[in-house]
Amino acid sequence: LFGTVEPFAGDPILSLNIAFQGDPRTEKVNLTIGIYMDGAGKVPVLPSVKAAADKLGFGVRSYIPMEGLPEYRRLVQELVFGKAHQVLAEKRVATIQSVGGTGALSVAADFLAKHAPGRAVYVSDPTWDNHHGLFQRAGFETKTYPYWDGATRTLRFDDMLKTLEEAPAGSIVIVQPVCHNPTGVDLSRAQQDALTDLLIEKKHIAVFDMAYQGFADGLEEDAGFVRRFADRTSSFLVANSFSKNFSLYGERCGGLSVVCTAADEADRVLGQLKLVVRRSYSNPPTTGGLLIATVLGDPALRAQWEAEVADMRVRMKDMREKLAAEVKKLSNEIDVGFITQQRGMFSYTGLSKPQVVQMRDKDGVYLVESGRMCVAGLTDANVAAVAKSLVAARAA
Ligand code: LMR
Repeated sequence: LFGTVEPFAGDPILSLNIAFQGDPRTEKVNLTIGIYMDGAGKVPVLPSVKAAADKLGFGVRSYIPMEGLPEYRRLVQELVFGKAHQVLAEKRVATIQSVGGTGALSVAADFLAKHAPGRAVYVSDPTWDNHHGLFQRAGFETKTYPYWDGATRTLRFDDMLKTLEEAPAGSIVIVQPVCHNPTGVDLSRAQQDALTDLLIEKKHIAVFDMAYQGFADGLEEDAGFVRRFADRTSSFLVANSFSKNFSLYGERCGGLSVVCTAADEADRVLGQLKLVVRRSYSNPPTTGGLLIATVLGDPALRAQWEAEVADMRVRMKDMREKLAAEVKKLSNEIDVGFITQQRGMFSYTGLSKPQVVQMRDKDGVYLVESGRMCVAGLTDANVAAVAKSLVAARAA
């Protein structure tokens, strides 16, 4: 029966992460998957999260509602939209606790397939590969809008607007509001405003994918695009993730919020999101949800967490500076400005696949084959070796 089942080619990010684990070299460096490492090269347990775990202990693990814990959902809304936002006062947002950011996008895709079918889905070129896969699996055709200019390492903003202007009205447009994956290049405030105008004018349905809130300028600042968008319009979606900013990757915690035109619409939309969840995984996991609700809901733990997010942000910026400085020491031919200008966890290096393969094979320095480097994997101990490997690959 299953004899003709096709092999799975593997995921471009997850497969490399596994290959790294099996590499016996001690000097190897993992700059593939978007996981934040601390200065010692370890995935941190945030002290605020540890304190929440100690406070909670391990109690009953009965089912939680399909839409997740009420407190968690309220706190997601406040973190994404800001406590005082009118969309919350007017109860116009339907929010579920999702299974990570990927789970949020998966529910979003299924929800849109049923309630906004037959539309094209536009994603940035390039984008996180799974955007294509998740929306295709839900039955959509995915297309791209220009985003990145490899030659100048800058945004193709005019081309982006042109493509979205020419797209059929009411298309679905996935937008990464901050810390773009994989390029690290974000829209300026003026560009965000211009894109907002266009999305509203064309009645496109925006799906914001916000997986790195707090990693660019701050938790509040990073949500600015989404919040200003909500000031102006409704009928859009926001997926958010706690994997990175809580260092809780395996607990699969995120949120999906649908901004509606009225409270009764939001109630019905929430019902439909619950239906998608029930038909898929029934209800989200308890432990991560409790941890996050405890940290966000306790003023002292929350302040501690905000400081921890700031520390992660500062460390990543510092490593960008250090990598740029190390590369500069070795070569004057490489313009290192892009390393420090890009934001968040990723740097799109412009390295070709053979150059990436050389770094991996010769030096044990692992990047994604698109040339994406996770700067959150750099440390004081490995940054010089990474710079050396990068310069050698560029010269090859
Ligand atoms: C990444 O892009 O590396 C992360 O978002 C992890 C993932 O699931 O791909």
